[in-house]
Amino acid sequence: MAITDFDLVLFGGGGDLASRKLIPALYSMHRSKGIPAGARILAVGRHERTNDEFRESVNQSARPHIPAESITGELWEGFLARFDYVSMDANTPETYRALAKSLRDDANLTRVFYLATPPSLFATICNNLAASGLATPNSRVVLEKPLGRDLKSAKQINAEVGRVFNETQIFRIDHYLGKEAVQNMLALRFGNILFEPLWRREWISDVQITIAEEIGVGNRMGYYENSGALRDMLQNHLLQLLCIVAMEPPLTVTPDAVRDEKLKVLRSLKRFTPTTLAQNVVRGQYRAGHVGGVAVPSYRNEPGADPDSRTETFVAVKAEIDTWRWAGVPFYLRTGKRMADQLAEIVVRFKSLPHSIFTQPASSFQPNSLVIRLQPDEGLHLNLMAKTPGDGMRLKPVDLELDFRESFKTPRMEAYQRLLMDVLRGQLTLFMRSDELEAAWEWVEPILEFWEQDENAPIPYTAGTWGPAAASALIGRDGLQWREEALPEV
Ligand code: BG6
Repeated sequence: MAITDFDLVLFGGGGDLASRKLIPALYSMHRSKGIPAGARILAVGRHERTNDEFRESVNQSARPHIPAESITGELWEGFLARFDYVSMDANTPETYRALAKSLRDDANLTRVFYLATPPSLFATICNNLAASGLATPNSRVVLEKPLGRDLKSAKQINAEVGRVFNETQIFRIDHYLGKEAVQNMLALRFGNILFEPLWRREWISDVQITIAEEIGVGNRMGYYENSGALRDMLQNHLLQLLCIVAMEPPLTVTPDAVRDEKLKVLRSLKRFTPTTLAQNVVRGQYRAGHVGGVAVPSYRNEPGADPDSRTETFVAVKAEIDTWRWAGVPFYLRTGKRMADQLAEIVVRFKSLPHSIFTQPASSFQPNSLVIRLQPDEGLHLNLMAKTPGDGMRLKPVDLELDFRESFKTPRMEAYQRLLMDVLRGQLTLFMRSDELEAAWEWVEPILEFWEQDENAPIPYTAGTWGPAAASALIGRDGLQWREEALPEV
């Protein structure tokens, strides 16, 4: 579906997210002629700046995040010319008049308000947009995470934004849903007959979902200190991945068909009790160590961190889904900063052989596993047992590999570009519905409450490792190992 003419208003247009992700995504669209000729981008910020000054700042802050080889003089100049800058204080209703003057008054035009701002401003901005008559029926609003810091604040955001925009106008971003490999999960599960019959408790032993980062908090300490790994990654990205793995086949890929199925998964997650919380949740915080051979300080010594900080930079959880399909299958989720590797992957491990016809005992056979690699390389690895060549009958594990970059030579699309295009087309499938967001908060809320009362600080782990030993113990109690622990030594 083609994108029709639009005015895109970027609140926080001079901010970090805009420079790193949104403006590069818009440039890529501009370059591939995916933006209609007249479409405009209005960056909104508090600083007084002329249009030229803002365009120069795009040159300075966003351009370094765009591959140099994709930038040509004329194309770049044409792109910069799309930007106008509106200086206004989002808290002050009167200043919305300046914005109104810059917007085109055309009922056929799509109007998008992208709120790349702290969530404390969401309600104010929406109310001010409504009061100044800017929130037209053709408008859409995009909300960036964090969407609240607990269930109560998430409900409040939903209610307040919902008073101005109806649900079909609200695009709650979880950029993981825009990743190629996440979309491919849908293709894998529902475009092949092979896996679906096995995709259940009878054949699957456990599922591991890991998002490990080598990077630290960067210049976002102010945000991260009040957030931590659970709010930053588990409540949203990891749970969304879990939903895609675990959901029932939706009727179609229309927004509500998919979101209904994800919601069912979230609502079927087994609630934690004080006992299961102590056993099934691990929180950690990194101490000084080496990442990729480079010495890094302890989290508490990072610039801007509280020297006694109790913010977790790592979390691991054993989740269970109380449904016919998944009862008894553990889903282990973990994420952390300053870990041993920068990767995101889903590992689906199948059950062991019931019996061996070979001289090797069944217990010596590595169970089959399917690894879905999200990043850095997108691909699939299907681990099978095969006969080693030569005399005799010895079986060994082998890897059937599919590298998406090799298989499809077509250019990649960044998650933010895909999601922005969907916003402009009004396509909601890859965005979270209000009830989904609340269900995710509802499930993590007992963890937050437990930690608040827990006298123990997060467990230290050395930067550049896979997290605290307690995370290995969490999975080890079930007789299992994280994937990297189970890999043969090389
Ligand atoms: C963001 C988090 O949502 O996701 C960051 O706020 C994190 O802390 C980032 O680094 C990870 O995203 P990606 O796409 O780089 O894996």
